[in-house]
Amino acid sequence: MNVATGPLGRSLTSRLRRDRRGAFPPYEMIDQHDREHSELLDESVRAAEEKSRKLERLYHNTTTHAWDGKKVLQSLVEKHGGIHVPPDKREALGHTFTVILWGELAAWNVAADLARALPDVDAKLAATGQAFDEARHFYVLRDYLMMSGVPLPPLGPLVRRVLTSVLDAPSPAAKLSGMQLLVENLALAIFRQVADARVEPVLTDLLEYIERDEARHVALGVMYLPKLLERTSRWERMRLWAFSTQTFLLTVGHGRRMDPHWKALGVNHRGLALHSFRLHQQMMRQMKEVADKRPGESIRGVYGLSSKQHQQLIDFLHPEQPESMGNRHRAGLAALDAAVLAAERVLA
Ligand SMILES: [Fe+2]
Ligand SMILES: [Fe+2]
Repeated sequence: MNVATGPLGRSLTSRLRRDRRGAFPPYEMIDQHDREHSELLDESVRAAEEKSRKLERLYHNTTTHAWDGKKVLQSLVEKHGGIHVPPDKREALGHTFTVILWGELAAWNVAADLARALPDVDAKLAATGQAFDEARHFYVLRDYLMMSGVPLPPLGPLVRRVLTSVLDAPSPAAKLSGMQLLVENLALAIFRQVADARVEPVLTDLLEYIERDEARHVALGVMYLPKLLERTSRWERMRLWAFSTQTFLLTVGHGRRMDPHWKALGVNHRGLALHSFRLHQQMMRQMKEVADKRPGESIRGVYGLSSKQHQQLIDFLHPEQPESMGNRHRAGLAALDAAVLAAERVLA
């Protein structure tokens, strides 16, 4: 028996491969062992290979669909005869886009961190593509905001904490979950609602470009997070759940503070929350498909209110008919707003 290919040889090889993890160069990245034998193995291996190809495709799609931010912005300004933000919407636009602009910078940094930290080549490629996109989003929005003269206020303490928590997240799984599933989801909902509100024509058109890229970033989380979670311990998943819940609550708190600005921009806050909720449901559904979960099974470690709980939260925060709210409902919202202000003072 050939020792190198027999059971002893295979166990030595896999031990060597394990020992090499974390060392440079990571020779296992070009190890053809798994692929060479994949034809002999079962359907699940082939399915895993197909998932990997889809993930890698995100990177190739990034390069295929890359757009030149400078040229696009210039052409949109020419098309619409300049940037004209209505005076009564300038302040609200500033409060919205200070979050979006610094969120783009955070996403750029997180994607670059993930490109380095993620162990699998397919996910590394997808994160690299995202870093490339986010860099473009940051500079094109910075240029737009400078040209428009919209004043950018400092970030609110709660949303600042959301972004710094994700930037400093203790693990790639937490970074991926916080950025791809929570922040990107909210960004997608905000882009769509602000674009639909047609606040300013150049911005409306520009957001369409950015929105197309963001869908790929969410896809990285959806396709890869289940795989990453499979490798985490129960304790890590519990920490991740707590982290995700905390960041979600912070975004809810910041959302309360954004209420007057959404009104000024003509964005329906309930519509925005419902849009984000639908996106979240869609992501959870897709993640379960990726993880081959049966109906009723959930992805452990990922924050997730049930559909009913989510709907109840939206009805509480953004009632369909605010004028007919009961006294208890009003008192509950007033208590929440007081808590949000107190939290802002603590975090400021
Ligand atoms: Fe972005
Ligand atoms: Fe993004």
